[in-house]
Amino acid sequence: NGGGAGGDNSNEGSTGRLLESAAPLPEPFGVALPIPPVLEPVSTDGGTDHYEITQRAAEIEILPGLRTEVWGYNGIFPGPTIVSRSNRPVAVTHRNELPVPVVVHLHGGKTPPEHDGYPTDMILPAGGPAPSGHESHGGQSVPLGDTSDGTRVYEFPLEQPAATLWYHDHRMDFTGPQVYRGLAGFHIVHDDVEDALPLPTGDRDVPLMICDRAFEEDGAFAYPSLDPGLQGEPGVENPYMSGVLGDVILVNGAPWPHMEVTGTRYRFRILNASNARRYKLALDPPPAEGAAFTQIGSDAGLLGAPVELDDIEAAPAERFDVVVDFSAYPIDSEVTLVNAFGEDGTAQVMRFRVVEEADDDTEIPDRLADFETLARADAVATRRVRFAREAANPGGGGNLWTINGETFDPDRVDFEPALGSTEVWRITTNVHHPVHLHLAHFQVLSRDGGDPGPYDAGWKDTIDLRDGEEAEILVRFTGYPGRYVYHCHNLEHEDMMMMANFTVV
Ligand code: C2O
Ligand code: CU
Repeated sequence: NGGGAGGDNSNEGSTGRLLESAAPLPEPFGVALPIPPVLEPVSTDGGTDHYEITQRAAEIEILPGLRTEVWGYNGIFPGPTIVSRSNRPVAVTHRNELPVPVVVHLHGGKTPPEHDGYPTDMILPAGGPAPSGHESHGGQSVPLGDTSDGTRVYEFPLEQPAATLWYHDHRMDFTGPQVYRGLAGFHIVHDDVEDALPLPTGDRDVPLMICDRAFEEDGAFAYPSLDPGLQGEPGVENPYMSGVLGDVILVNGAPWPHMEVTGTRYRFRILNASNARRYKLALDPPPAEGAAFTQIGSDAGLLGAPVELDDIEAAPAERFDVVVDFSAYPIDSEVTLVNAFGEDGTAQVMRFRVVEEADDDTEIPDRLADFETLARADAVATRRVRFAREAANPGGGGNLWTINGETFDPDRVDFEPALGSTEVWRITTNVHHPVHLHLAHFQVLSRDGGDPGPYDAGWKDTIDLRDGEEAEILVRFTGYPGRYVYHCHNLEHEDMMMMANFTVV
């Protein structure tokens, strides 16, 4: 069992509850940073790259000397990285050899609805029982996915610019535990605009998937939110349902790793893949001169111009594409990526060791991509969207996680934006929620009536909303008609049905 539970909000800035590992934890910075392998296509017919992924359980070593069972894409965690070109379609055949149904979603992808990983559109286990066609959920019958042989082909047109996307599980009610067990990987899209920029590439273009986990004594992942033994009094939900926070920080699946770097610029594609944890990332020591990070891209692509940041607040699912210039540090420096929102072990993420000088012909140009800045006048509608934790019972006790007062119902459509249109969504909250829309990318227009925040630059698919905050976003519904979800990306809130539909018409 996972040991002592901290209080709610035990780590600043995150809604959730800290679970402490029972396993012995390693000293930080002992393990080298792994880089997830790039997946090779099985064929490239007719202009489409075809890939195959088998989702399966595997035992891997995460904590030194212990075995952890993961549910992984090809049995690894993180899953293999898919590298694509903008406008070149990709087809990925997923085979489900796990004991549970799965759903694959390409987060940040502009994907037709039948390939977007709708939460009830499941791939049943290969060789499992034939589907009944429907599964009862919350008192209603919802259709199961269309496959019973355990495979499904997902097609991604990728008609979108260069960006750091990621793919992860999205099964209704079970996204939290299934991602926690390992079902997440990068999908990086490149394009000609990015290629023409003198940014770091190759070994100096490094994806960093940051997430937290807790471990049982034997090394197994500890995930408490489904444990019925944790249910409190009648009507009081399991406290971990407000968010599971682990006490071990993993980067690309390794606990507090280190990376040897030369005294040059590196591009880091930072992804917060945690279920519920938010980070405030900084470098310790900070560089003697200049900002720690130069942000060049956000969730959905490159920025128009770089933004200098001394720290980065990253909520679950957000991506920050940044450049760090290690020439600002003397050779032999140790530079720690720290988390100012953490405490004890979670206050540290990973360490860089600047081992030698090297040639660097990279630059960060003043102009990156052509960037169309949306304006309020572009919007044809204004929608109000409230993400709230509400008492489930009149006397208090238990929580409902609602959007505009409702929990998820696959059959209810809240909004019908027109294909190609732009809308203002005015979003309010009463606790912390990272709000994510499928398909549609957006720009942050305001926070609490003022300017967007320092971490809001660029095209986004997820916005981090603080307790009591109101934000306006300008959402552009380009892509495909059909039904899509929007939801809280605190995965425990999502599993508590903090999700809703819009249909692009
Ligand atoms: Cu990253 Cu609907 O998900
Ligand atoms: Cu939430």
